[in-house]
Amino acid sequence: MFTNLAPQPADKILQLVGMFRADPRSDKIDLGVGVYKDATGLTPVMRAVKAAEKSLWEAETTKSYTSLAGEPAFQAAMAALILGDAVASDRIAAAATPGGTGAIRQALDLVRMATPSATVWVSDPTWPNHLSILKYLGIKTRLYRYFDAESCGVDFRGLMADLAGAQAGDVVLLHGCCHNPTGANLTLPEWTEVARLLEKSGAVPLIDIAYQGFGDGLEPDAAGTRLIASRLPEVLIAASCSKNFGIYRERTGILIGLSEPSARQLTQDTLAFLNRQNFSFPPDHGARLVTMILSDPALSADWRAELEDVRLGMLALRQQLADELRRVSGSDRFGFLAQHRGMFSRLGATPEQVESLRTRHGIYMVGDSRINIAGLNATTVPILARAIVDTGI
Ligand code: LMR
Repeated sequence: MFTNLAPQPADKILQLVGMFRADPRSDKIDLGVGVYKDATGLTPVMRAVKAAEKSLWEAETTKSYTSLAGEPAFQAAMAALILGDAVASDRIAAAATPGGTGAIRQALDLVRMATPSATVWVSDPTWPNHLSILKYLGIKTRLYRYFDAESCGVDFRGLMADLAGAQAGDVVLLHGCCHNPTGANLTLPEWTEVARLLEKSGAVPLIDIAYQGFGDGLEPDAAGTRLIASRLPEVLIAASCSKNFGIYRERTGILIGLSEPSARQLTQDTLAFLNRQNFSFPPDHGARLVTMILSDPALSADWRAELEDVRLGMLALRQQLADELRRVSGSDRFGFLAQHRGMFSRLGATPEQVESLRTRHGIYMVGDSRINIAGLNATTVPILARAIVDTGI
């Protein structure tokens, strides 16, 4: 049996983690995988998470199963965080999932169950694992234009022209905020136009919101998702707590399905069914911490304050890198770095230049020249800027 297996392509992002670890150079710089790091290179456990873990340890009396779709309190807390009061509760079905990736996988499984012939439209470019999961599930996939390599902004005209081809029952995968890998995002008026287009076609949006709080703040980062949720009858939302709560390895995420009230129970039952088929009960520890934090005013305030520090720190690094590049390159062509939001930006380097940065300078980034801003600090920004210019980017 095992000898029949075909070798699978390595995940390009995770492959970099191993390469970076194996590099003996002490001055190497990791701008690869999307994990937040502070100025000392650590991915800290957030204060509120630590405090919640302590009181959970003291209060928890059982590790017995919860429910297939996770705890209703987690579902409610996450729905409030993402949707605010944009949607009536009788439209919301939700299930806890193993991380945001688990939510994407469950969403696409649900799409395949509901409409086997559906085409899923994804931005060009998108997170590589979106494409990998779609291919694995055998779902028809089409790309829509998203990134304008000239301006390093959104090619909105191209996006609208391509999405005009989406049919009723198709699914359009959108990044709620902090687009991965480009860092270029839709404005609110653009979200409104996308909503109008989807209303007209009957295509269903699937919003991947993995970085809420890393862009312009918790509320602004959810604005596009809320707008879509309030306007369209059916919406899927896959959210992650890995980044904004810093609980990557706890695998904490949620899939929300918004429908007409009459279809809510069926949607809820289907989400629970899908969990049972794929992994049975979702992980509970991270979800419980998130619920405790979001339902305790003091913990919540502390979490929001620490998240805001993280966000502002990344913005400051963006600005510093843009300024430094202006200084060493004598041009404004990297000004987009300060305009982008979230952890990522694409530098616009060729694969050869990316490789040269790695081999000659020990600077690691994804092959499409996506950098993780949080992998930098005030000392490494000038080193990166010089290496970029030195490499002829
Ligand atoms: C990334 O894009 O680097 C993150 O979402 C981590 C991952 O799982 O790929």
